Amino acid sequence: MAKQRQQAARGTGKIRPTAYVLNGPNLNLLGKRQPEIYGRATLADVEALCRKACDGLALGLVFRQSNHEGQLVDWIQEARDKAAGIVINAAAYTHTSVALLDALNAAEKPVIEVHLSNIYRRESFRHHSYISPAATGVICGLGPKGYVLALEALADMI
Ligand code: DQA
Repeated sequence: MAKQRQQAARGTGKIRPTAYVLNGPNLNLLGKRQPEIYGRATLADVEALCRKACDGLALGLVFRQSNHEGQLVDWIQEARDKAAGIVINAAAYTHTSVALLDALNAAEKPVIEVHLSNIYRRESFRHHSYISPAATGVICGLGPKGYVLALEALADMI
């Protein structure tokens, strides 16, 4: 499906469907923050991986990070109008935020929840995700590759 769309988009000047990849608090510190858990790749590295994947999948990409819950809600609302689908690593807000759950439910788009680490191997408070009920799928524990897999899955859905 993605391949067909890629071929169709090539040379037609058609606007590509856009994936919004949204990142929550402290992910700006990737590469420096607890590398034994999150690895050495920086957020810029993750963005570069996503950009390469989106090029291959004929998807546009909006890639953002915020430490603020309300900003993430605003971006999800923006995605409701502008995105074909959402990949979200809500970081710590995963485990606390009804506001993000409500925004994702209102988005009416495919949503893939991603975590770099395997949240089920960690502290018990990380085992519950408020946003999973709004997600089409959840990927965790595969590091930055999880973002690429999420984009591939999204491309198949849209
Ligand atoms: C995380 C897991 C969360 O529990 C944590 O609060 C994060 C990152 C991950 O990508 O593994 O900040 O979402």
